[in-house]
Amino acid sequence: MKKNTIAVIGLSWGDEGKGKFVDYLAQKADMVVRYQGGNNAGHTVVVDNVKYIFHIMPSGALLEKEVVIGNGLVVDPKVLLEEIEKVKKSGKKLTLKLSSTAHIIFPFHRVLDGLEEDSKGDLAAGTTKRGIGPTYSDKAARWGIRVYDLINPDLLKSKLKKLFEIKKKNINSFDPEWDADINAIYEEYKKYGELLKPYVIDTALYLNKVIDSGKRVIFEGAQGNLLCIDHGLYPFGTSSNANALGICSGTGVPPKKIGKIIGIIKAYTSRVGGGLFPSELDGDIAHQIREQGHEYGTTTGRPRRVGWVDLFNIKYSIIINGIDHVIITLLDALEGIGEIKACIGYELNGKSLESWPIQPEIIDKCKPVYKTFKGWEPKSRNEWSETAKRGYEAIPDTMKKYVAFIQEELQTEVAIISIGPNRNDTIELIKDIF
Ligand code: GDP
Ligand code: IMO
Ligand code: MG
Repeated sequence: MKKNTIAVIGLSWGDEGKGKFVDYLAQKADMVVRYQGGNNAGHTVVVDNVKYIFHIMPSGALLEKEVVIGNGLVVDPKVLLEEIEKVKKSGKKLTLKLSSTAHIIFPFHRVLDGLEEDSKGDLAAGTTKRGIGPTYSDKAARWGIRVYDLINPDLLKSKLKKLFEIKKKNINSFDPEWDADINAIYEEYKKYGELLKPYVIDTALYLNKVIDSGKRVIFEGAQGNLLCIDHGLYPFGTSSNANALGICSGTGVPPKKIGKIIGIIKAYTSRVGGGLFPSELDGDIAHQIREQGHEYGTTTGRPRRVGWVDLFNIKYSIIINGIDHVIITLLDALEGIGEIKACIGYELNGKSLESWPIQPEIIDKCKPVYKTFKGWEPKSRNEWSETAKRGYEAIPDTMKKYVAFIQEELQTEVAIISIGPNRNDTIELIKDIF
């Protein structure tokens, strides 16, 4: 039975192009839903050569689709209000629902994020310092403050007072001098609550009703499977289930209502922050890929680490997420590289491993095994766009071979390839996946 929902999931370390493809698929949808993470995400949507970056607003807002921020997110209200303004300023009509049970990021969460990171040494993930981890910690410790509290000033006042006492002790254990004006924080957040109140509902019930009515809904993943707190390269990831498994808990939509799961990969790999990266490159080729792919963090502006595509860890992500189809992005960004490599396995003590070993202590001892491919010639931006218009037949033969190999190796159909940041720089190999 064809279901009316679809999920878009990053299969690597984030920044695979989820924003572009949520926006692309949203052309045929009624609603886009975020279900985990917070403003650590940076999703880029390019419309008519104008670039929009969203950190918490679901991609799809620019198409005037209804957008929903589910209970699984941690919300920085200031950032959300700024993005609401950004959409309104673009002249688009915004229809937004915000879950009453999503958790709220406060300034002291950001302070703690920095202090905890600085104390972690080799275990630091290089977080975005947006307070994501400390806010999810408070959620799990059951003293977190939720959207419902934010929009009810009395609840906010008493809960914030208690939370602040705890957090101050915590921060003072790193920095004995630290203090903040709790009344000023309360007043600031009370104001945010007033401004956000019109958007707040129980999104879980609402989403179930919308899906049951037959409307078409996209679940927009943030980050990627290898950053997932349970199924990624712990502890060098984020603090949520950054994969398809997070959809149900982060929205209240049960598993049987989730339709196709689409996995996005880059033609190479990128990573921001710390942690192991077996297929990482340095030197001239890394520089060339970083510049051609504009690999600078969407959220923090940090230069992204880059390397060859790692099909071995992507295979793992495909299993964990139950991926139906793959989208390959940024094929154009590998232009002009004579020889391209793809990691097809890891060796440990001279023996090939059967599957990706999730433990960093094992991965650290592994040696990636590569297959080499002939690359393709550079083209101008316009030429790539023209190529996309002409379709699959027009792409270089060497690119066809590379794509065919990825499909074969992953044993998963490649539904779409992407050769530029614009909506139209897209070639569907399988028509109408949604
Ligand atoms: P997300 O976090 O997965 O949404 O990805 P980001 O927006 O952080 O990073 C992806 C970047 O690649 C953005 O700047 C996109 O505009 C850009 N992009 C997406 N697909 C393509 C593509 O096929 N080619 C090129 N050159 N850029 C792309
Ligand atoms: P999108 O949705 C890439 C990384 C950080 C850090 C680790 C933990 O744009 O793909 P956090 O601030 O979440 O506690 O940081 O996760 N990270 C991302 N890397 N893209 C993202 O989001 C990321 N969100 C977090 O760099 O290594
Ligand atoms: Mg990003």
